[in-house]
Amino acid sequence: MSEKLIDVVDNAGVVRLTINRPKALNALNSAVLTELEAVLSELEQRSDLRAVLITGAGEKSFVAGADITEMREKTPEEARAFASQALRTIKRLETLPVPVVALVNGFCLGGGCELALACDWAVASDNAIFGQPEVLLGVIPGFGGTQRLPRRVGPAMALDLVTTGRKIDAQEALRIGLVNRVMPQAELEAYADELTKQLSGNGPQAVRGAKQAVHDGMDQDLDSALALETALFACCFAGEEQSEGMSAFVEKRKPNFSR
Ligand code: CAA
Repeated sequence: MSEKLIDVVDNAGVVRLTINRPKALNALNSAVLTELEAVLSELEQRSDLRAVLITGAGEKSFVAGADITEMREKTPEEARAFASQALRTIKRLETLPVPVVALVNGFCLGGGCELALACDWAVASDNAIFGQPEVLLGVIPGFGGTQRLPRRVGPAMALDLVTTGRKIDAQEALRIGLVNRVMPQAELEAYADELTKQLSGNGPQAVRGAKQAVHDGMDQDLDSALALETALFACCFAGEEQSEGMSAFVEKRKPNFSR
């Protein structure tokens, strides 16, 4: 039997996805995207999901981009279909109702950077390398980089990266807001555990609501987005989490958020 391209490990609703093509530095080909989309469509159905972590197999690379060998002979129509498949898959990752964390353990280039940009959190090892080097291959980013990168780091820095194709180290990625944290590689796993424990220990409906408010509000005008926040805030008072969380505060104990 062939090896899985996406390894899935589930620890009480915290799901870790590992892109498993280390010989090609976890480059995204059609087979990886197909398998990833199937996994995501299952995760979308789970009400017990608390957080998702995505990383690359091996110690060298998160994802070194879309698969250049596969793309090399594509016609424009085939390239459009490939990009559409990737965009759809990445969107499904982005719109999972729980926090999605990119654990960037090395090269994070091209389609890999575009995948990380769709995650709510990005935690990088100190040896990680980021970039959108597509222009060096005679193409532009095709998995969302020209749109999500300027939204994350601003248009000036995005234009710098997509037009020069230059690579940046983890510290620069932190400085420009591309990642949330940089950790020594040896401490990356422990930090990921701590982060997912923290995320999954909070009120699950509140965490989902907070993510929804930020994501859905970003593309609206401020007044509409604030009205959305008010509606979601009010919704919190219809469930048990608010009562438990606030009672725990008043009673000076830890809240117990049941599933
Ligand atoms: N696609 C296919 N295979 C890739 C790959 C990719 N994006 N990146 C690396 N590999 C393969 C290499 O071909 C090599 O395979 P072989 O052992 O069979 O030769 C293997 O992974 C190891 O890579 P290297 O020997 O090159 O490793 P290195 O340490 O010398 O260099 C690297 C690492 C700097 C990341 C280099 O591999 C590299 O530059 N990779 C390409 C990065 C890139 O340009 N990414 C953007 C792709 S285009 C894109 O993503 C478009 C889009 O938006 C849709």
